[in-house]
Amino acid sequence: MTRHLITSALPYVNGYKHLGNLVGCLLPADVFARFCRQQGHETLFICATDDHGTPAELGAIKEGEAPATYVAKWHDLQENIYTRFGLSFDWFGGTSRAPNHALTQHLARKLKDNGLIETRTETMLFSKADDRFLPDRYVEGTCPKCGFAKARGDQCDGCGSVLNPTDLINPYSSISGSKELELRDSQHLYLLQSKLVDKLRSWIDTQKHWPKLSTSIAYKWLDEGLQDRGITRDMKWGVPVPTDTFGDAFANKVFYVWFDAPIGYIAATEEWANAQGYKTPADGVPLSSPARRWWYGDEAKDVTYTEFMGKDNVYFHTLSFPATLIGSNEPWTMVNTLKSYSWLTYYGGKFSTSMGVGVFTDTAIELLPADYWRYYLLARAPEGDDSEFRWTDMQTVVNKDLADVLGNFVNRTLTFTAKHFGNTIPPMGELTEAEDQLAEAIAARVTKLTAHMANADMRKSVEVLRDIWTLGNEYLATQEPWKVIKTDKDRAATILATAIALIPLYATLAAPIIPFTASTLMALFPSLETPKTAHPQPDATLPATLHTPWSWPTADDIPDLLGFPPTGTFSVPPPLFAKLTDEQIADWEARFGNKKV
Ligand code: MF3
Ligand code: ZN
Repeated sequence: MTRHLITSALPYVNGYKHLGNLVGCLLPADVFARFCRQQGHETLFICATDDHGTPAELGAIKEGEAPATYVAKWHDLQENIYTRFGLSFDWFGGTSRAPNHALTQHLARKLKDNGLIETRTETMLFSKADDRFLPDRYVEGTCPKCGFAKARGDQCDGCGSVLNPTDLINPYSSISGSKELELRDSQHLYLLQSKLVDKLRSWIDTQKHWPKLSTSIAYKWLDEGLQDRGITRDMKWGVPVPTDTFGDAFANKVFYVWFDAPIGYIAATEEWANAQGYKTPADGVPLSSPARRWWYGDEAKDVTYTEFMGKDNVYFHTLSFPATLIGSNEPWTMVNTLKSYSWLTYYGGKFSTSMGVGVFTDTAIELLPADYWRYYLLARAPEGDDSEFRWTDMQTVVNKDLADVLGNFVNRTLTFTAKHFGNTIPPMGELTEAEDQLAEAIAARVTKLTAHMANADMRKSVEVLRDIWTLGNEYLATQEPWKVIKTDKDRAATILATAIALIPLYATLAAPIIPFTASTLMALFPSLETPKTAHPQPDATLPATLHTPWSWPTADDIPDLLGFPPTGTFSVPPPLFAKLTDEQIADWEARFGNKKV
């Protein structure tokens, strides 16, 4: 058994995320974590809100709250939504909490000890109206590369270029709008990434498991010459730069959000350990033993670490975070597989918080149950290329795959059985070639599904899962129990018992993708063991039923699983999925838009 450490990129704390954020890291990470648990691997699935940086500070200003109040509020609001989507984090922490302060400062000190941090004087934009420096997004202006008028100081949304605030033409403060900006000197810490190029390259060379998108992005940065990076900002909200190590000039400065955020993966694990009663050591590496088992030293050697993220995050996870860890000269767990995703678009355009385009997670979960979203979004996961969200597309996928294929199979099997045999599972008689063929066909697809799941390939997994469901309908269509029942009740019993045996198998195989439906299906059979949590869940924030513990079958298990259906009684559920009606779709298109903006 492998020990799987799994992280999803940390969502910025500012507000509810859109469906693209959900499908572009959180959801695939959850599917993979659930799959690993069902395979019996010890699994730790960690996430947190990304609490620092301009998104948090500007958000707090906008809502008229102190950053800490704002961050605590949005952390909880986001966590609530993720729970409703069935995201089965072992811990959902926050980067502004104590463990991340301690770890970020610890790593910065190590980097300094190792000669990898240098103080440089930078000329920066200062706004007199705001009485502060304007780093990153605090300044907007015209992009020097493409002429986009609302480029931000860190990045242009018009052409995607990475920018410095001083690159902007006609800059203005994004807080007050003031154009009265002047250049002033300010001291900053630089991480000397250029000194780590060789180490980073040889580490990346050994990473055989990364998908191409991730590796090619990493090599491109290395080939273009990795720049040293400013890792501090003139801001109040963030992890303070320790003046005992870096001097009084840093008294009002914090670390850059992209320096402390990935360290947050480790820190959130420490939060998880603290919640179990383990204290963070006061000296040395600020990490208690349960967290070390995943992140540090010999005990963590057998950990396989998989990260999920949007493609804009790849630089930070392949180079800048590894530079921090490698540069510390300490034995940290480094990523083994880095899954990166392109964008989910809304009708080919951008989901936009500020412009209110598209559907956001808080609204989505009010409209439909989680599994409808999970299934549709994963079927359209932007693996490789961008993919498009469309209401009509969602209608097709939900109505066909979930309602017609899976839902219908379950309902007609159980309704018909109840009608002729009562609510007791009929006895399995002699098996025929039809059952053997069914078992063989399913076994072959279970092998495929397992491989796709192990690679965290979402689209392929969804496709094979649907094929497996379809086999059930085909079996009923060819065996025609509704005809056979008139002449041979024993044979009809065998057909129905076989169909019934498929239901818990379907629940097991579908559980990573549609966990709520899987629980509903399993619960139809009182004879099946009630789910119990199969992984450490110290302060369970999720109902136990969200953690589907049913072990993942191999192809060899399939004949037995089909030959031995559950015993005893069963209940007939109401239709599992309601079809999305044309009226609903028209309503949502009118409400959220149905064209590119
Ligand atoms: N908040 C970032 C984003 O949404 C992701 C941070 S991932 C971490 O793009 F590694 F930095 F934590
Ligand atoms: Zn531009």
